[in-house]
Amino acid sequence: MLLRLDGDGALGQRIYGALRRAILAGELRPASRLPATRTLARELGVSRNTVLGAYDQLLAEGYASGRRGSGTYVATALPDPLLRPAPRPAQRVGVRVPRLSAYGRRVARASAIPPLGGAEPSLRWDFRYGIPAVADVAQGAWRRVLARRARIASLPTMTYGPPEGSPALREALADYLRRARGLACDPGQIVIVNGSQQAIDLAARVLLDAGDRVAIEEPQYQGARRIFLAAGARLDLVRVDGEGFDVARVPARGVRLAYVTPSHQFPTGVVMSLGRRLALLEWAWRAGAIVLEDDYDSEFRYEGRPIEALAALDGAARVVYAGTLSKVLFPALRIGYVVLPQPLVAAFRAAKWLTDRHTPTLEQEALAAFIAEGHFERHLRRSRTRHAERRAAVLEALRVHLGDGVDVVGANAGVHVLAWLRHVAAAGLPRLVARAAEAGVGVYPVAPYYSRPPARAGLLLGYASLTDRQIHEGIRRLAEVVRARLTG
Ligand SMILES: Cc1ncc(COP(=O)(O)O)c(C=O)c1O
Repeated sequence: MLLRLDGDGALGQRIYGALRRAILAGELRPASRLPATRTLARELGVSRNTVLGAYDQLLAEGYASGRRGSGTYVATALPDPLLRPAPRPAQRVGVRVPRLSAYGRRVARASAIPPLGGAEPSLRWDFRYGIPAVADVAQGAWRRVLARRARIASLPTMTYGPPEGSPALREALADYLRRARGLACDPGQIVIVNGSQQAIDLAARVLLDAGDRVAIEEPQYQGARRIFLAAGARLDLVRVDGEGFDVARVPARGVRLAYVTPSHQFPTGVVMSLGRRLALLEWAWRAGAIVLEDDYDSEFRYEGRPIEALAALDGAARVVYAGTLSKVLFPALRIGYVVLPQPLVAAFRAAKWLTDRHTPTLEQEALAAFIAEGHFERHLRRSRTRHAERRAAVLEALRVHLGDGVDVVGANAGVHVLAWLRHVAAAGLPRLVARAAEAGVGVYPVAPYYSRPPARAGLLLGYASLTDRQIHEGIRRLAEVVRARLTG
């Protein structure tokens, strides 16, 4: 513990004063345990009696409670409410924010775009996109495999690992991608990252200079948009229609990178047609540009035949493929991967080293075992069935309770749908969302994902974490709110 022993006088008094100041400033929280007297005495290089004297004074004055031998705790109610923490130097002179770099200023500007994904009150029927299917994972093999790997942690898993990630995991992923995504890649082309967010960030660092042009979907995933804005890129917004990213609208020259979500466009859910995929690859080749394929939820596909990843169609080393375990397992795992054209491997690997050396080894090793032992694909099969049931429940509930008042798109894949409310004006949506929240239902407008908000009222409905009953009850309540708005 860091104590500032200000002033002069007896050591015991100075220790008492420092602890008292820390308590009043809230640095030592009410009910938290003070360090053991022996430990503090050792740290400060004083006798234990000196510390005991300081603790006795705090106890006597009511700043602390407890008995000798069973620990001393900060009091829950402080004795002197008039005593206020001493102002810190910054408060005295007025807070002055240190100067930010151009990058820092752009990050601040880009992060001001709503929504900022902070913690919000949890609602009983919450259709928030991004909540994982905890129930599908928590009881499963993941926990066992992770515990087993933790028990056998050895020197190689406890020292620094390779920046490109664990060889076993890269091997397992290459194998999986070959079978599941038709993506024939060598483990040497894979770099393990902390989620696709880091994949996009590394791509921006390695491939873009401030002022470069980036073609991005409109509407788009905000996490990507923020990264490109922070990198100082100029964005070309490219409309998404029924076939996905409209390549014909991308300038033939001058764009360095195109960011796309072809398997299930975020947030509209459109699956990019094969024609558009081929046209996009052709454009990249002619323009000398890179396509960044964000394949964030391709594992869940319900209708139509699976479409190969763009990277699997790429014969000209133009596609950087980003995958993630966030939707298939859970986002707090923070494991994703990039599959790179061979000439880009060294730059990504070096940038990953600079950023954080590597992704934590224990989780990588556990994931490698989880995949190699077949748990991953078993989990995937089960999740697919459960998500398909949830998706069917969403579609059924919307049909029953909102009928032709709703136009649902993007249900072919993924773990969310986009519901356009036919009889609600875009301007009336925030009120409707607030009313729904009062009824315990969390629904989220799609408008913030557009750079130019749409004229219609659209809701993003995530369903990965909900049971059939929650889905039906949530949509029933939402429909009640919609009807009340229409009639009131
Ligand atoms: C389109 C898209 N890309 C990337 C991500 C980020 O995923 P990760 O958790 O792997 O960083 C998300 C998360 O919701 C997403 O929706």
